[in-house]
Amino acid sequence: MLELLLPPPVDPLWDLTEAFGADTRPERLNLVLGVYRDESGGTPVMAAVREAEIRLAERSASKEYRGLSGNLGFNRAMLSMVLGPDGPVERAVAVQTVAGSGALRLLADLICRTRPGTTVWISDPAYVNHRPILEAAGLTVRTYRWLDQDGMLDDLARARRDDVVLLQGCCHNPTGVDPTPDAWEALAGLAVRDGWVPFVDLAYHGLGDGLEADLAATRKLAERVPEMLLAISCSKNFGLYSDRTGCAVVLGASRESLRHAETALQNAARTQYSMPPEHGAAVVTAIWEDPGLQASWRSELDAMRERISANRRALVEQLCALGRDAEAASLARQKGMFSMLPLSPEQMLRLRGTFAIYGTTAGRVNIAGIGLERIPCLARGIAGVLEDRGAALVR
Ligand SMILES: Cc1ncc(COP(=O)(O)O)c(C=O)c1O
Repeated sequence: MLELLLPPPVDPLWDLTEAFGADTRPERLNLVLGVYRDESGGTPVMAAVREAEIRLAERSASKEYRGLSGNLGFNRAMLSMVLGPDGPVERAVAVQTVAGSGALRLLADLICRTRPGTTVWISDPAYVNHRPILEAAGLTVRTYRWLDQDGMLDDLARARRDDVVLLQGCCHNPTGVDPTPDAWEALAGLAVRDGWVPFVDLAYHGLGDGLEADLAATRKLAERVPEMLLAISCSKNFGLYSDRTGCAVVLGASRESLRHAETALQNAARTQYSMPPEHGAAVVTAIWEDPGLQASWRSELDAMRERISANRRALVEQLCALGRDAEAASLARQKGMFSMLPLSPEQMLRLRGTFAIYGTTAGRVNIAGIGLERIPCLARGIAGVLEDRGAALVR
C-alpha cells in the first residue's frame, strides 16, 4: 500500500550542491546563497527587530489565530511603505503571506482562478523560483530579454491584453541590472497601451539606491496602470528570512473587483496554509508604527546598502587594477545584493575548483556575502579564470 505513495525519482528544485558541498579548503568562499552577511560573515538580527521583539515579548500578546488576511496592521504598513504616504492605497487590497515566495504563489493562484491559462512573462534570466512557482499554479510562462533593454521592450510589445508581466521592482536577481528610468517609462507606456497587467516582485527594496529610490519605479507604475499585482518580501530588508514575512497586494480599478480579489486571495490562502505566521508581521508592524524604531531600521538598512556598494566598488577597482576594465565596467552598472560575473558555467566551475570561490553556475555571486578584505581574492579569482591561469594567483 505505502509503495503507492513513493514517488518516482524527481530532480530537486533547489540544488544544494551549489553550496560548499565537500569543499573543506579554509579559503573557500560561499557566494551562492542570497543572504546578507556583515563583515564578520554573520547575518545578525537588526537592532530595530531585536527591540521590537523585546517589546512584543513584554506585552505577551496572545497567540490566537489571526484571520486569513493575517495581521491587518502589517498589511497597512506594507501599503504605506511600498505605495508611499500619498500612494493610491484606496485602490489596493493587501493580504499577509508566507514571505515573498508565498506572495508570488498566492498571486499566481489568483491569476489562475480569475483567468485560467493566462500567460505570465518572466525575465530571461529570471529569479530561479519564478518559473517553478508560476507553473506549479498552472500558468503558462514566456520570457522576455532582460539585459538588452531594447530587446526587452520588443519582446514585451508582443504581450497581449490578457497577459501578465512579472517584473522585479529593483536590484534584479540574478543580474543586478535594473531598467533605466526611461525604460521603466517605456514599460509603463506599453502596459497602458496594450492592457497587460504588471506583476511586480519586490524582494530587495532598500538595498540598491535606498528605500524610496528603489520603490520609485513601482510607485510610478502604480500611478499609471489600472491594475497591478505586487509580491513583497521582508526577508532581506528586515532580515526576517526564517520568520517568513511577506505580503500580496492587488491594485484594482473598482471597489467590487478589489473585494473579489481579496476573497480569492483568502480562499487560496485557506487551501494552502490557512493563516500566515504572526511573529515577523508583528515585528515589522511594531517597527513601522514607532518613529524611533523606524528611524533605527532605516539607518541600519542604509548601512547594509552602503556595505554592499562599498564591496562592489572595491571589486570594480581591483578588477581595473588587474587590467579587466571591460568586466569591471559591467559590474559597476549593477546594484543590490547580486552581481552577475561575466563568466561561463565552465568558468564558474573553474572558479570553484581552482579558487574555492562559489557562485551559481549561471554566474551569480552574492556581493554581500564577502568581507571587504577578501575582495582582492575574488578579483584575482575572476581575473585568473578569465586568463585561465591557475591557483598561483591565490594567496
Ligand atoms: C526576486 C525574488 N523574489 C522573491 C524571493 C522570495 O523571498 P522569500 O520567500 O524568502 O521572502 C526572492 C528570494 O531570494 C527573490 O530573490
